[in-house]
Amino acid sequence: LDLATALDLLPKVELHCHVEGTMRPGTVIELAHRGGLALPTENLDELYSYGSLDEFLSIFWLVQSTLAGRDDWARLGYESVLDAAAHGRVYAEMFFTPARHLAGGQRLGDVVAGLAEGIAAAEAQTGSKAMLIADIDRAFGPAAGLDMVTELGELRRAGAPGIERVLGVGMDSTELGVDPVSFTEAYRAAAAAGFRLTGHQGENSPPSAIAAVVDVLGAERVDHGLSLVDDPELVRRFAAERIPLTVCPNSNIRIANAFPALADHPYPAMRAAGLLATVNTDDPAMTDLDLGYEYTSVAEAFGYTFDDMVTIALDGVEATWLDPDAKRALR
Ligand code: HPA
Ligand code: ZN
Repeated sequence: LDLATALDLLPKVELHCHVEGTMRPGTVIELAHRGGLALPTENLDELYSYGSLDEFLSIFWLVQSTLAGRDDWARLGYESVLDAAAHGRVYAEMFFTPARHLAGGQRLGDVVAGLAEGIAAAEAQTGSKAMLIADIDRAFGPAAGLDMVTELGELRRAGAPGIERVLGVGMDSTELGVDPVSFTEAYRAAAAAGFRLTGHQGENSPPSAIAAVVDVLGAERVDHGLSLVDDPELVRRFAAERIPLTVCPNSNIRIANAFPALADHPYPAMRAAGLLATVNTDDPAMTDLDLGYEYTSVAEAFGYTFDDMVTIALDGVEATWLDPDAKRALR
């Protein structure tokens, strides 16, 4: 067995993956045609090349806007889990970011029910499980974030179909000119409604913003957390407290353009500093990635052995929001 095959087959969890960013190219084109949505080019290789996070986001939003209703979300959830299962993913806590769909009149209950239905069908077929994290889209502002969280809490109290899949709340989208502290009220409401908390930060913002997500918003994990390495004191604290970072090394090259090549990524420095830094794909279909390749390229770029990668995979299990028995079952 070569390393790439072994790492593709290795049972892995994933904590940083946007379900919309897993949409198959064929599905994007089919749904865009059906909706009469003009893509700037039908050549997705061309469409999927980005100079910065914000440039990526404009294409991400285009992909998101092809999802017109419950059945589309169900198809997306189904195909997403099938595709990840093919590369050894056994469990995921996966983001969905419904702000523009809610603004366009879709019901949050339909989005959740659709995703949950599709995921359940793929789980039954593959044994690969996926739970959900409802992300606030920062571009829509704090009031829209609070509205989404409030509605999520109502769905939970009502026992709405599929809501048991939604474990937590996070936030994503642009970091430019956005103070994470402005989402405090939404995070408080999410915690009060019983949701776990995470948040994207430090992909395009300084370490002080990462600290705010943990200390002010109460997040238990940080998604990306890349700029943490610029603050050695904060690195020591995150390492001591085992605060998980859901790192997406190849995404940081292909989306954020943060480094010229994977070899320049601070991932090995993060691990060497004792950080609980997991490996994830972010938006695999929109960056031509899969979790097996992500593990393989990290191993090859940084000289990690198969055993090193098993340790990283086990850290992923530790960082999940599963209860201790369910974690034990994955180890
Ligand atoms: N960062 C911010 N927003 C996103 C990302 C990301 O990596 N992927 C999808 N939405
Ligand atoms: Zn992300």
